[in-house]
Amino acid sequence: MTLSPAPFPTARLRRLRATPALRALVRENSLSPSDLIWPLFLMQGSDQAVPVPSMPGVLRLTVDRAVGAAREARDLGIPAVCLFPYTAMEHRTADCAEAWNPENLSNRAIRAIKDAVPDVAVMTDIALDPYNIDGHDGFVEGGEIVNDRTVEALVRMALAQAKAGADILGPSDMMDGRVGAIRRALESDGFQNVTILSYAAKFASAFYGPFRDAVGATAALKGEKKTYQMDPGNSDEALRLVARDLSEGADMVMVKPGMPYLDICRRVKDRFGVPTFAYQVSGEFAMLKAAAANGWLDGDRVMMESLMAFKRAGCDGVLTYFAPEAARALHG
Ligand code: PBG
Repeated sequence: MTLSPAPFPTARLRRLRATPALRALVRENSLSPSDLIWPLFLMQGSDQAVPVPSMPGVLRLTVDRAVGAAREARDLGIPAVCLFPYTAMEHRTADCAEAWNPENLSNRAIRAIKDAVPDVAVMTDIALDPYNIDGHDGFVEGGEIVNDRTVEALVRMALAQAKAGADILGPSDMMDGRVGAIRRALESDGFQNVTILSYAAKFASAFYGPFRDAVGATAALKGEKKTYQMDPGNSDEALRLVARDLSEGADMVMVKPGMPYLDICRRVKDRFGVPTFAYQVSGEFAMLKAAAANGWLDGDRVMMESLMAFKRAGCDGVLTYFAPEAARALHG
C-alpha cells in the first residue's frame, strides 16, 4: 500500500511563532539581570572616570566611583561585580608584592563596596599580570613561566582578597594546582564560605586585546600566554581542566572567551552540570560596539542576542561589559 502525502504540512512549526504571546510562551531560555556579572576597571585617585578607548562606554573608575557602579548594579538587579585594577608600569615589580598588599587598589575597592553595598557580590581576578613587570600571569624565570612558585603567590593574593571581603575568587591564571592550593588556604584560615569561580577553560585568545589596554598590560606583556592558556584548537582538554578544578574545590567554572567557545560551554554544562559561566571578553564587546557605531549592526539587538546565546549554550550566567546596558534594556 502506498501512502499519499498529507494534503497539508504535518508539523506547522510556524504556528508557535505567529504572535509575540505565543513566542513568549514557548521560549526555551530566558535572560535576566540576575544572569549578569559586571566587570569594573579600577584606577587610583578619587572621583574620576576615564574612558577605555577600545571599549566604547566602558570607564576606568576610582574606588569611590566603583562603589557608585556597585550601587547601580544593585539597583539594576545585577548580583555581582568583578574587579580589575589598572596598574601603571611603576607599580609592577619582579616579585609582584603589590598583588597581596592588603591596601592595593582592588583590596581597597572590595572593602569599600562591601561596606556600602553589602548585597552585591564582589568577584576578584587572581593572576599576577597586573603586578608583574613582564605582564605574565605567573613569575618568569629564564624565559619560562614557573608554576609552583606562582601558585604560592596566588594563594597569598587570594587570602588578601578573602580578608578584604571578596565573595567570589576568580583564579584566571591557568597555573596547575592553584585551585586546590587556594581552597586549602581558605579552609585553614577560616574562609570556608568564600567561593571559587575558576577560569577553568581559558584560551590563549586574541580577543583579550582591549582588556590589556584597559588594565595597562599591553605595553608590559613580553611574549605570549600560550604555555599556560589553552590552545584554541582544543575541546576535550577543557573538560579535563574543569574536572580537575572541580576536584580541587572550585564551586563554579568559567569558559573564556565566550562567543567563539559556545561549544565548550555546552560540553561543560552537559558533562558536569555545575554552575557554568562564560566571559564575553573585551574583544567580543569591542567587535559588536564597533559594528554598531558604524551602523552595520543594530547594537541593542546584537547585545541581547549574544547574551541569550550564552543561556542557550547552557551557561548560568555571563561576565559581560554589556551588564548595565543589558540590565536596563531588560527592565524596559
Ligand atoms: C588576566 C586576565 C585577562 C582577562 C581577564 N583576566 C587577560 C589575559 O589573560 O591576558 C581578559 C578579559 C577580557 O578580555 O575582557 N589574568
